[in-house]
Order: sequence, then C-alpha cells, then structure tokens
Amino acid sequence: MNDVLPAQVGRWQEMERVAREVFALYGYREVRTPAVEQYALFARGVGELTDIVNKEMYVFEDKGEELLALRPEGTAGTVRAFIEHGAHVEGLQKWFYLGPMFRRERPQKGRYRQFHQIGCEAFGVAEPAIDAEQIAMLDDYLARMGVRAQLRLNSVGDPQCRPPYLEDLRRYLAARKGELCPDCNSRIERNPLRVLDCKVESCQPVLREAPRLLDRLCDGCRAHFDAVKGALEDLGVAYELEPRLVRGLDYYVRTAFEFTSDALGAQSAVAGGGRYDGLVEMLGGPAVPGVGYALGQERLALILESLGRKAPEPAPAVFLISADAAGAREALRRAAELRRAGVACDLDPRGGKLKAQFKQAERVHARYALVLGGDEVASGQAKLKDMETREETPVSLDALAGRLAAATR
Ligand code: HAM
Repeated sequence: MNDVLPAQVGRWQEMERVAREVFALYGYREVRTPAVEQYALFARGVGELTDIVNKEMYVFEDKGEELLALRPEGTAGTVRAFIEHGAHVEGLQKWFYLGPMFRRERPQKGRYRQFHQIGCEAFGVAEPAIDAEQIAMLDDYLARMGVRAQLRLNSVGDPQCRPPYLEDLRRYLAARKGELCPDCNSRIERNPLRVLDCKVESCQPVLREAPRLLDRLCDGCRAHFDAVKGALEDLGVAYELEPRLVRGLDYYVRTAFEFTSDALGAQSAVAGGGRYDGLVEMLGGPAVPGVGYALGQERLALILESLGRKAPEPAPAVFLISADAAGAREALRRAAELRRAGVACDLDPRGGKLKAQFKQAERVHARYALVLGGDEVASGQAKLKDMETREETPVSLDALAGRLAAATR
C-alpha cells in the first residue's frame, strides 16, 4: 500500500481531473459506493473460483454479525447500488467512480494491495455501439493523458456458446496435461479459461494450439463482436484481436478487452473491462445488460513517469519575505489581502534571514518574491522580484493584488 506524497499528488489530481472532463463529455455521472461490501456480493458477482475472491480478498467478520470484504473491484458494488436504488426505472444509466480497491496480491511493480481505479459502468444497453463508444472513451482519455497503449480485444462468448467450448477445451488440456505447469493442471477442471492466460514459457506450445472460443461463437455473439469491431473502425480506434484474452473475473460475456503498455513490464494492463449481461439479474436485480471498464491509477502513474512527464505542482504567485518585525506584520496582512483577491501567496512565519526566506521561496517555486521591511511599510512601495529572471520592478503595495492577478492569470 502506497503513500502519495505532496510532490506526486499533482499527477493523481491530473489523472482524476482529466477523467472527470472526459466522463462529462460522454454523459457519465459519478457514483460513490462504500469500500466495504458483504463478502457474498463478490463471491456471487466476481466468482467464488476466481483468484480475486478465492485468494486475494480481505475478508472479516463484523463482530460475529456478517462476513464483509474490502472491495477488490468496483463493478459488484456499483451493480449492488444500481439494484438497491431501483435505478433501472430511469432507463439507460452511465456511471463512473474513482477510488481505492484492495487485493491481497504479491506486491511488485504495478501490483499493490491497495490500488486505485477510475472506472465506469453503463447499464441498460445490449447494443454493441456502447461497447465501442466506451472503449473509444478510454482511448480518448489515454490520448489526453499523452499515453499510447495497445487495445487487445476478444469475445468470451455467452452462456449459449461458452459451455460446449469449455468442455472441448477441458478435454484438449487434459489430454496434454503432462506438458502443462502445475498451476495450469490445477485449473483444467475448475477454470480452464484461465489456463489460456498462463505465461509460463513451457506451456505456450500447448496453449497456442488450443481450440479458440473466437472460432466457436454462436451467431448472436459473432454478430455482436463483428459490430463492436466495425464501430471501433468507424471511430478510428485501432485494436489487436487477442483470442486468449480471458480476464480474471467471471462476469464477462461477449466483449472483453485490455489496454496494455510496454512501460509496465509483467503487469502490462493499464485498464481492462468488458460486457457483463446477466450480472445484474444474478445479483437479484432485473435483467439489465451492462458494460464497463476500470483503469489502474498506479499503473497509469508508472507510465507517465516512464515518459519522464513531470507531475504538475501548484506554486504561489508571490512569496512575501519579511526584513524586520514591521515587515512581518505587513506580510501577514498583505498575504490575507492577496488571498482574498484569489492570488496564491506564501510566506515563512518563522521570519529569519533574508537568504533563508528566499531559499524557501525557491523551494515552493514562487513566481515572484517581495521583501517587506520598515521602509516599504512607510513608503507603501516595494520591489517585486521575478524569481526566474531575477529582474526587479517597483510596485505599490496597494496595487499588488491587481498586478499579480493579471500576471498569473
Ligand atoms: P481488473 O482487470 O481486475 O478489472 O482491474 C482493472 C485495472 O485495475 C487493471 O487493468 C489494473 O490497471 C488495475 N489493477 C488491478 N489489480 C491491481 C493491483 N493489485 N495493483 C495495481 N493495479 C491493479 C476490474 O476490476 C473490473 N471491475 C473492470 C470492469 C468494470 N469491468 C467491467 N466494469
């Protein structure tokens, strides 16, 4: 679990600000749900046999009352809120969320136990146009953040075409289990789709030749997938077909996708999502289709860092430096005046040597510095020093706020 210190927080604020702007452009509204939900919600929603629920969830008993869990992802809680508040009666709903998620994974670069997602969910549209629009929205967001990532796209079928495929896959994998790693072997029965995702080198020949769900889609899933691809082409979003992309959550049907970046190494997905028709109903709501995705903020931050992008930091327009006791009083008063006028300013209440105060002005990246002492107080005039060019310009103290508001607008 990480601390985000003030020097890095600008990057986080930027990720969130741009996300809010893009969501607004596409008509998504924010929802805030609790970080804790009932364990059963995730067991049913995400899937009891997934690694996320089975191995990685922080689960605890609420003083013997009920079994709760820290949310490992945002979709299940969002669906719970959608159902609980009867939001389907208002028709199509497009929601987004930002916040911490928790998975007890083995920590490594890009993989943490508390991490942060920016995610969205659209309820009530089965049509493929929204899958494509949502992917384009994420692509748009990444472009605004100055990041290039590869879109990997797949269809994971539906309850009509997936079960017969899984049987074939199981049979195929069981016949070649001697060539597969122990992890794969333990998954053949329980979760054969996850076997396709194995990264162990020696498993690859078997997996490359495995039957592909993309070749077995039913007519409905095939038409849906073709339409998603067509709409992505219309929208100018490039994709790579990835028949072995399976995702680690059980609720997906049809569209499944990830955006990956080489900057991330092994944990290469910066965002992932897909369609989950059936989930709302399975969790006790009406039969409402859904589609969504989530982006990992820590991973996006790593990409931005690898690009050498500086985190934006707020800086005061002016740093008020006091030369003596009269100057210190004046500085405090003028600072209040400037802030009332909306001009960001700073001072060092400890006073002290001029040199030390100038150093502090540099440290906070103040654009200007202004020394105040008995003389300046008496004359109402001071010198505004540009911290970059070192140039000094005389200024009347009463005109300071107006002047700085104009200079730093
Ligand atoms: P997910 O693929 O499990 O999907 O997570 C989405 C993103 O969260 C990942 O691509 C990654 O960037 C980030 N992430 C996941 N685990 C960690 C971790 N341990 N440390 C750092 N970052 C991590 C979901 O969570 C789905 N709820 C997405 C979704 C929404 N599907 C439909 N709607």
